[in-house]
Amino acid sequence: MIEKGAREIQEAREKRGPSIQERYENSFPTSQELYRKALDLFPNGVTHDNRILKPFPIYVDNALGCKKWDEDGNEYIDYFGGHGALLLGHGHPRVVEAVTKQMNRGTHYGACHRLEVEWAKLVTDMVPSADKVRFVSSGTEATFMAVRLARIFTGKSKILKFAGHFHGWQDNLIIGSSPPYEVLPPGVPNGVVQDTIVCPPNDIGEVEKVLREDDRVSCVIIEPTGASFGMIPTRAGFLKELRQLTDKYRVLLIFDEVITGFRCAPGGAQEYYGVMPDITTLGKVLAGGFPGAAVAGREDILELLEKRGNKEWDLKKKMFHYGTFNANPISASAGIATLKIIATGEPINRANRASSMLIAGMNEVIDKYKLAWCVHGEFSGFRFLLDHTCPKRSSCDFRSCDYDYKKLKGGNDPILSGSLRCGMLLNGVDATEQGGWVSAAHTAKDIEKTIMAFDRTISWMKKDGLV
Ligand SMILES: Cc1ncc(COP(=O)(O)O)c(C=O)c1O
Repeated sequence: MIEKGAREIQEAREKRGPSIQERYENSFPTSQELYRKALDLFPNGVTHDNRILKPFPIYVDNALGCKKWDEDGNEYIDYFGGHGALLLGHGHPRVVEAVTKQMNRGTHYGACHRLEVEWAKLVTDMVPSADKVRFVSSGTEATFMAVRLARIFTGKSKILKFAGHFHGWQDNLIIGSSPPYEVLPPGVPNGVVQDTIVCPPNDIGEVEKVLREDDRVSCVIIEPTGASFGMIPTRAGFLKELRQLTDKYRVLLIFDEVITGFRCAPGGAQEYYGVMPDITTLGKVLAGGFPGAAVAGREDILELLEKRGNKEWDLKKKMFHYGTFNANPISASAGIATLKIIATGEPINRANRASSMLIAGMNEVIDKYKLAWCVHGEFSGFRFLLDHTCPKRSSCDFRSCDYDYKKLKGGNDPILSGSLRCGMLLNGVDATEQGGWVSAAHTAKDIEKTIMAFDRTISWMKKDGLV
């Protein structure tokens, strides 16, 4: 016999229907089972911090175009885009063809090969400031190399970076990359902490103050469109001001274009904004969905990687550099196929258009529900800002965003963002808790379906009393 109180709760629940959490727990049995096994094998059961999801993540079985399918056969419109690597979408036929051909010719020669020359030529042709290139395996390695080159070139040890800007997880650059920015990540040595200066984003006065007062700064590193691909947008004009200041104080300017390279324009954010850095780091799109990254830049800086057989130079100037998978032929084949398609600019325009449609449509839904949320983003990325207090709301021009940067990144309530993510998955959309990446494979129909999924998810969140 059910007690009166319990019966009322059950009746109310039946009337309201299952909550997002209840629906989720009952919808993905195979993923849930795999996650149970994964918990015994991986910390948090995952292999990347951004793949953590409560109560469990979905397990993907295959993907094509802008879609992916999980182990239970559910279909999703994908906005993870291989963590930003897949501007062309999954399994572009020309990339698949190039990689398949290369697989039969050898996956690792441990030697120089024709493809690395072709790949590097595409990079130097497309990226305006790239005189020379060195391939590495990940964006983290690329920024690590860029900073070390800057230290050798200038003979100075410090680096200046911006709060919220993510450049990989190595010691120097992980400092100040996620909120709360003033708390130091565990495991970073004191010496490294002393050599890393974190400035608030978009504050050119603060940068000038540091450079004027401290002559030990070797470089300024920035994600040109802003922290985490514009989650904290870079103010219009800031890049030009930074270029002028770094020139004035003889400090190298590094654009971390691991995300923006080949995505904002064929030549990256530097081409789009017409501001040339001294060193550029590239990754993600560069290798067409395979592991691969690069440092590109001025010849007189990249030459520090040269071995010259001259003791003075080789011991005091040359930057040591190895790497088992540098310019791997499979990655090179995918990268070449991808860059050749992107060089036309057409896939970039297509992805940008789809992203703008998505952002506009989602903001209309937000207005319909009268939520203090907004979706923003430039180029082919979108970001969720949930429960903000910014008076501009969705009418904002984010190039002049003056909202508190500490709230723009990491400010979303985890219960809201987690429910949004689970609800979107239940409605056939895989976006991250912070937003997502749009590819050239997303059609108007996919965008329309995504906006409908967003609407439905918010209606469920309303029923759950979350908004
Ligand atoms: C701007 C930026 N730089 C560097 C990295 C590190 O790249 P990777 O994950 O390939 O090490 C990332 C990764 O997301 C990034 O977004």
